[in-house]
Amino acid sequence: MRYIECSTPDEPTGPANLAVSTAPDQTPSAGEVLVSVAAAGVNRADLMQRAGHYPPPPGASQVLGLEVSGTVLATGPGVEGFVAGDAVCALLDGGGYADQVVVPAGQVLPLPAGVDLAAAAALPEAACTAWSNLVDVGRVSDGAWVVVHGGSGGVGSLAIQIATALGAHVVATAGGPERADRCRALGAEVVVDHRTESFVEAVRAASGGHGADVVLDVVGAAYLAENVRALATGGRLVVIGMQKGRRGELDLGALLTKRASVAGTTLRARPAAEKAAIVAAVREHVWPMIADGRVRPVVHAQLPLDRAAQAHALLDSGEVFGKLLLVP
Ligand SMILES: NC(=O)c1ccc[n+]([C@@H]2O[C@H](COP(=O)([O-])OP(=O)(O)OC[C@H]3O[C@@H](n4cnc5c(N)ncnc54)[C@H](OP(=O)(O)O)[C@@H]3O)[C@@H](O)[C@H]2O)c1
Repeated sequence: MRYIECSTPDEPTGPANLAVSTAPDQTPSAGEVLVSVAAAGVNRADLMQRAGHYPPPPGASQVLGLEVSGTVLATGPGVEGFVAGDAVCALLDGGGYADQVVVPAGQVLPLPAGVDLAAAAALPEAACTAWSNLVDVGRVSDGAWVVVHGGSGGVGSLAIQIATALGAHVVATAGGPERADRCRALGAEVVVDHRTESFVEAVRAASGGHGADVVLDVVGAAYLAENVRALATGGRLVVIGMQKGRRGELDLGALLTKRASVAGTTLRARPAAEKAAIVAAVREHVWPMIADGRVRPVVHAQLPLDRAAQAHALLDSGEVFGKLLLVP
């Protein structure tokens, strides 16, 4: 198999240290599926792992890559529901920057209806993150007011669409008017250019003073105070990213007065059974939204696998809208 090797993964490394390497072909063990990779999604976590700030969980592949699409090559003993030749996509613990990868069967999804095989690689990480945090943690329901920070990102572009499909009113944030327009096209009712406007006032005005029932946050410490200010009574702030800091000051008085809550989650660190439960929920609830056209993958560009370094530089530049894919 061909894969992208990160030459010094436990030290800060530049993108140039991503190079094609080879290893023996893989064999699926009990409960695993071997996938021939059509495309791999590029995630911000990959950039952090490359820089030595985000080690893979115990037992996971050291190779970068948290999601792929492709074709089943073989299944291990005990796997039901998938056979060789099936078109699939999968949520990985690691190993996606390769032309083949083994995945626990519980993390494999059939190709959703109407989606191109390569484009499906844009879905598993974003759909599982958006669904589990909007619904399981945030309890988004019909008519709720939801703030999606980074609506222009890989997660946010899916979260806008899923929340809208659930009947929520979405207020998204994005950097600049062109990215804001694209968030509107995905279903956001209001989009705030975070470079020039306050999302707190925008969500208050749009909701007639009610505030946000749920805030899905990818920014972290820099937004903590404003996120709490934006919450409605009983609102839920769900933090999934720390792009602007990990330590902030929380106004407990505001939280108590609003009977509000703050939660944080990560997908990658969850045990396999929890990931499988999220994947099953995404298959049950999000795959029909894709089949009927309410949700679609947002692919910025596809690059050859051997240009992984260029893909990382592009994601780092802040120009990507939605997802970047690597094609072996
Ligand atoms: N906890 C989890 O399980 C989990 C899962 C997946 C991802 N994540 C994390 O969530 C974050 C987003 O992931 P992603 O895949 O969507 O990344 P991405 O595609 O690189 O997008 C980053 C997003 O952050 C936005 N952003 C940056 N600074 C902002 C600010 N000050 N205000 C509002 N938005 C801002 C960007 O908006 P503009 O470029 O338009 O300014 C962009 O939409 C990352 O930190 C990632 O590591 C966590």
